[in-house]
Formats: sequence, C-alpha cells, structure tokens
Amino acid sequence: MLMFTRAQRPRSNTPNGTIAALDVGTTKVCCLIAKVGAAGSVKVTGVGHHLARGIKAGAVVDMDAIEDSIRAAVHGAEKMAGDSLGQAYVNLSAGHQHSQTIGVEVAVTGTKVTDADVHRAIEQAMIRADVAGREVIHAIPLQYSIDGATGIREPRGMFGARLGVHLHVVTADASQARNLAICVGRGDLEVQGPVSSAYAAGLATLVDDERDLGATVVDMGGGLTTIAVFSEGGPVLVDSVGLGGQHVTNDIARGLGTSMQHAERLKTLYASAVENPGDDRELVDVPLIGEAPRIGGNPVPRSELVRIVRPRIEELFEHVRERLSASGCDEVAGRRVVLTGGASQLDGVGEVAARILEKQIRPGRPLGVEGLAESTAGPAFATAAGMLLYAASGLADADVGSLGPAEKGGSSFARVGRWLRANL
Ligand SMILES: Nc1ncnc2c1ncn2[C@@H]1O[C@H](COP(=O)(O)OP(=O)(O)OP(=O)(O)O)[C@@H](O)[C@H]1O
Ligand SMILES: [Mg+2]
Repeated sequence: MLMFTRAQRPRSNTPNGTIAALDVGTTKVCCLIAKVGAAGSVKVTGVGHHLARGIKAGAVVDMDAIEDSIRAAVHGAEKMAGDSLGQAYVNLSAGHQHSQTIGVEVAVTGTKVTDADVHRAIEQAMIRADVAGREVIHAIPLQYSIDGATGIREPRGMFGARLGVHLHVVTADASQARNLAICVGRGDLEVQGPVSSAYAAGLATLVDDERDLGATVVDMGGGLTTIAVFSEGGPVLVDSVGLGGQHVTNDIARGLGTSMQHAERLKTLYASAVENPGDDRELVDVPLIGEAPRIGGNPVPRSELVRIVRPRIEELFEHVRERLSASGCDEVAGRRVVLTGGASQLDGVGEVAARILEKQIRPGRPLGVEGLAESTAGPAFATAAGMLLYAASGLADADVGSLGPAEKGGSSFARVGRWLRANL
C-alpha cells in the first residue's frame, strides 16, 4: 500500500544536493527543485506550476485529474532545472490536521544520556500520543529536559538520571493522506516525506526571532486556511479552518449573478474586506451569467463587493481566533501574526485580521530561498518554499514522524519505532 512515508535514502545522499518540493493545493500545484549549497543556502533551479484539478478544500476528489496536474507541474520544474526527480517532499493541507504536544520522562540507563535513552523517550511519547486511525505527519522533538532542567536541544552525552522530551505530533486523516500519496506515486514520484502546509509556511515566512519569541502564521489558500503557532523555535500548534479564497469567489459569483471566472477577476481587481472612501461612487462592470461582457453593461458599486466579501473574511478570522483560544497556545503565540497564502493578497485582509485577532499583523512572503522569480516569490508560494527549507535545514532529519518502511496495516507508531531502530 502506498502511504506517506519518508524515503529511506538520507538527505545527504540526494544527488548533487538536489531537493524538491511539491505543493498540491486546491487551486494550483507547484513543484520547486533546488540545490543546497555548502553553507546551507537553498537556490531554486526549477519551477513548475499548473492549475490544480481534482482537489477540493485540500483533499483529493478526482485522482486522474490531479495526477495530470502533478505531472504537468513536475515536468515544468524538471525541464527548467534540466534534472529529473525521483522524490519530493509533499505538502499536506487537508485531512483535518491537528497537533498535540506530549511530555514524558524516562530513566537514563547509564550515567550519561545515550541514543537508546532518546529513542525510549520518543517511543514513550508516541505511545501516549492520540494517533489512532490517523496518519502521523510530523513528530518533532521540541526540547529535552534532564533531571527537570528544561530547554535542552541536544541531550546526548549529558549526565543525568531522568530524561524528558516534549514531542510535537501532527496527525491527519489517514485516507486523505494516502489518496494524495497515491496520486503523487502515479506521477512516478516517491514521497520523501509529508509536510504540513502551515508548518512549511511558517518556516518560509517567519524570521528566527518570531519563531523563538512566539508567532502565528496563517496560510490563506484557495480551499482552506491553515494555522501554525511557533514558540521557542518550533511548532506548538497546527490547525486549519475550512475556508479560503474560493469561498470568497463563490460568494461574489452568487451574490452578483456572475460566473466564477468573472467573480475571480472582480475579487482580485476590485474587492476589499474593508470599506474605502468613494466605494459607493466607483462602479465596476459585472457581466451576468449567460451575457456577453460589455462596457457599462451591468454597473455595480464597489461597496457592493465589499458588502459581500467582508463577512466571509470576518468569519474566517473568527474561526482562527476560536482555534487559537481553544488550543491554549494563544499566550505563547505572542502578538505577531504573519498572513500568507494567495488569498492573503485580498485588499483589507490585514485590517480585519488585526481587529478580530487583536494582534500585530504583517504580510509574509517566502524568505531564505534564492532564485525565485517575481511571479513565484509571492505568498502563494510560501508553502512550497518552506518545504525546501524543511528539507535543507536538517529539520526533516530531526522529524521522526511518518518514517520508515510502511507495511500494510502498519500503524504510524510502528513505523516510527522501525525508523528509530534503523536510523538513530
Ligand atoms: N491578488 C489577489 N487578491 C485576492 N485573492 C487572490 C489574489 N491572488 C490570488 N488570490 C486567491 O488566492 C487563492 C489561492 O491561494 P493559494 O495559491 O495559496 O491556494 P492553494 O495553495 O492552491 O490552496 P490550498 O492551500 O487551500 O489548498 C485563490 O482563491 C485566489 O483567488
Ligand atoms: Mg496552499
């Protein structure tokens, strides 16, 4: 059975330091190929993107259609890079992802902490994690403690009697993760590892200080909005809200009786989530369904667009606020929110977010990746860029989630156990 499993080949063996990311979104599929430089720099050498067909709210609904979109995006990136891909990190945004942080303590067998002690602590944390019937996407050791002293990043070799670990475990609905993995596999690509969208978006858009002091990244996509909270350098919450830019487009199409195509155009050119002076006087042409567009055909004041769009954006951020307060992570998340994803480009989104979340908002574009053209350096490409950083920075190696050979019926936990035995 094809599953989201991490390829056995370690990162250092990727041919010529080449890494690849495949972001299968609701509106577009994007493939990035990059070279990792000696100092850890990431330089994009190939970019391919294509309209996504067969994905709804981040989940596969038509396998043949999405397979074609994936092939087209991968082919485009391969052609530009002059390279052919065997494997890629693949984004997972659907599947009702949620996360939990498990803290456990185990006795150290000798006087110093060894690999075996670390394995045992992680295994114990995985036993306590609630992963039944779900696919483990990430299991990230956030920090270790020794005899109650917290904040240790690398415990091996340190003296102590008790070793503690805080393991952050992100899970998703297993069937959705597997369906996407099958589509990627059909496109002759091996899934090197799944990456949660919001986590990747945070790696690409947050600066180190934000990740350390606490910040939230909100990736507003076409079909859904994913949320990640970072604190002390790592992720402490991954969640999602089933609303995105396509819902706004739908509302405009319904509200004004126009086609989805025209609604999309009206949204990007004229819509706003906040009122601007003069909106009542500014008229935009809205071609009605079934009628040929003509200048002055069906003038609608811009304020009408705002009236349709604003409640949807408010609803979206009210859900984000509820998720953050229900998680208990709101405190550690600090005051900073970074908005990214294609739908974050809607005018006025930042103002609505600031008012509802009561936090400082800034727009987020992919940082830390070289070689992106202007058209691919925008917020819609943050997730794909973040996956490259995940692959290049060693985070992928430290992540023990969903690793190892997947056998039919094998639980995520069993796979983590096998990976621990094989790799550490
Ligand atoms: N300039 C713009 N103004 C407003 N919305 C925009 C703009 N550009 C793109 N969008 C919207 O962004 C959305 C697509 O964003 P993105 O590419 O991040 O989504 P995706 O990754 O395909 O989907 P998802 O992450 O939900 O699976 C679309 O709904 C599109 O209408
Ligand atoms: Mg996306």
